[in-house]
Formats: sequence, C-alpha cells, structure tokens
Amino acid sequence: MYAALRSIGSYVPKKILTNFDLEKMVDTSNEWIEQRTGIKERRIAAADEHTSDMGAKAAKVAIDRAGIELEKIDLVICATLSPDHLCMPSTACLISQKLGIANVMAFDISSACSGFVYMLQIAKAFIESGMKKHILLVGAEKISPLLDYNDRTTCILFGDGAGAAIIEATEDKNEAIIDVHASADGNYGDLLITAGGASRFPCCDATIKQGLQYIKMSGNEVFKVAVKTLTSDVVDILAKNNITPDQIDHFVPHQANLRIIEAVRKKLNFPIEQTVLTVAKYGNTSAASIPMAINDAYEEGRIKYGDLMLLDTFGGGFTWGSALVRFAGKSL
Ligand code: UT7
Repeated sequence: MYAALRSIGSYVPKKILTNFDLEKMVDTSNEWIEQRTGIKERRIAAADEHTSDMGAKAAKVAIDRAGIELEKIDLVICATLSPDHLCMPSTACLISQKLGIANVMAFDISSACSGFVYMLQIAKAFIESGMKKHILLVGAEKISPLLDYNDRTTCILFGDGAGAAIIEATEDKNEAIIDVHASADGNYGDLLITAGGASRFPCCDATIKQGLQYIKMSGNEVFKVAVKTLTSDVVDILAKNNITPDQIDHFVPHQANLRIIEAVRKKLNFPIEQTVLTVAKYGNTSAASIPMAINDAYEEGRIKYGDLMLLDTFGGGFTWGSALVRFAGKSL
C-alpha cells in the first residue's frame, strides 16, 4: 500500500489585520514589514473562534472534496502550537467531536511550523504498515493570543488559520507520497520559544508579568539557520530520489518570510511561477501554512491531479523537513 494525498482544504478567519493597522499599534511601518518579510496582511480569529473550530472547518472541506464517508476515517492528527487547551483534551479530539468522528485514534503533535510535514511522515508510516487507511491531517493555529502586540519583532509575523488534508491508502504507485524528511535539533530550542504557561514556568502573576506566555524569537539567528538547513534538506531529498528541480511542478515552502523562500528558491533555480506564495496575505500560520498554501493554489486551478509538489518547512525546536508529494485529488 502507498499513501496518497487525496484532498486539501482550508479555512481563514474573516478579520484582516494589515501592516497599516499594525503601524497604529506598535513602532513599525508597512515598508519595513513588506521589505523584510513580504507580509502585507494576516487573518485574526474572533474571540469565540478557536483552533479546533478553524481546524474542523478546514477538515470538512478536505473530507467533502475527498468524497469520503466520516465512518471511514480511522485516524485524526492535528499539528498545532496553539491548541485550544495546553494539556488536554487534544485539539484533534475536539476536531473529531466537532466533525462527528467517534471511536478512532486522535492526537496532536507539537513540532511548530514543521507540523504538516511531520504529519505526512506519520500518516505515510501508518498507511504503508497497513494499520490505517483513511487519515485526516489538520494544521490549525490561533496564534494571535500568543503574541505580545507591544513586541514588534514577533507580532507582525504571525496569523491565524487552518489547513487540512485526507491521506488515503492506494495501490497506485503513481499517486504515492514519494518521500518525507523530518528532523530536529533541540540545541536551538531557546531561539524560538513560548517559555511560560506549562510545567516549567506554570502560569502565575510572576510569569504573566514577565510575558512568558508570549512567543519570543531571535529572528535573525532563526533566519540564518533556516536558510542553510532548508537549502541542504531540499538538495538532499531531491538527490536521494533522483529528482531534478525542473521535474517539480510546484515548490510549496513554509510561508514564514519571503526572503527565506527566495533564498532557497534561487539556490535551487526554481522559477517563481513554480513557487506557491501566500505569505503576503496570511503571514506565518505555522503548522497551517503549507496546507493553506496548497489549498490556495488548488483553488486557483494551479495544482492538478498527478502534479509533483516539493514541500519544505522550518520551525521552533528547531524542527525542519521536506517532502515530495504527488497531488492525488481531483483537479478542479
Ligand atoms: O516559522 C518559524 C521560523 N521563523 C522564521 O523563519 C522567521 C525568521 N526570521 C525572520 O523572518 C527575520 O529575522 C525577521 C523578519 C524576524 C527580522 O528581520 P531581520 O532582517 O532579521 O531584522 P533584525 O532582527 O536583524 O532587525 C533589524 C532591525 C533592528 O533594529 P536595529 O537594531 O538595527 O536598530 C530591529 O530592532 O529592525 C528592527 N525591527 C523592526 N523595525 C520596524 C525589528 N522588527 C521591526 C519591526 N518594524 N516590526
């Protein structure tokens, strides 16, 4: 059995926060944000709209597009750094409940922005081992409550949203997810961290006063390691699978910063037309960023059945990964 990406879906909240809005909130400018990141605007979830709500909405789109009955789904995984609840229940359990999927294994993974690629590796292994046949993957993020809107180095970067995919067992090798690389190095943990609120620094007046509940990032150091690691990881996965950049139909990178995407794209000579870019309109939506980007290109009619996609990602941990994936959903 092979694992095939059978469908894609996404959901974005209605509220748009532009760079011009941020100019009024913090010491920044539209010009700085656009030049250094490529971001123009991002979506912000409503107060009563939670990660699991957005995840369930994206999942519904993916399930409908796959034309699969709910009863057939035998595993639900959610990748998120902004779960509804810190420890339990998992956001995957809440998404399952919202969709009406009962009595199947459901769990969250914590690998920050690399979540979607990590989930692909897990789903591929479950399917190739014969243990599962129809897996729902959801990358969902409500990052806005984890941002300090007085910290211009982080609050301009992130947005909210969700993306989802159905991964199905197939006997057709031409539909298969070809390969997935997923890796990590905890030595860099402090460079991108939400230190407070869990067991090491439990939520209390002191941790709140220090702002430990917010995302902190040493942006420039993250940037340098991201460019270096992503480039070498993509070179490796292509070489290992005897695939040349001109055989890739769509390069779908994690949408953190246009300059990171451009650095990797240019090193590998991917034409810009081959590259899927959503960073301008959504900012960095962490684990949701890649499925949201695939979804947008699919809805634009760019991604079709049988197309070969190269995904790459990098995030807190550090975690990173890349994947060679055939799109095995119906062309629009
Ligand atoms: O998804 C997870 C992985 N995350 C990433 O891959 C993000 C990686 N990092 C980045 O995208 C970039 O490093 C940032 C966009 C976060 C920052 O860009 P940079 O070119 O690395 O800027 P910098 O941190 O070196 O800061 C340059 C200057 C500083 O001022 P001084 O010290 O030169 O006077 C900052 O204080 O820009 C200043 N600055 C800002 N100015 C206006 C930092 N943030 C802002 C801001 N508006 N929002």
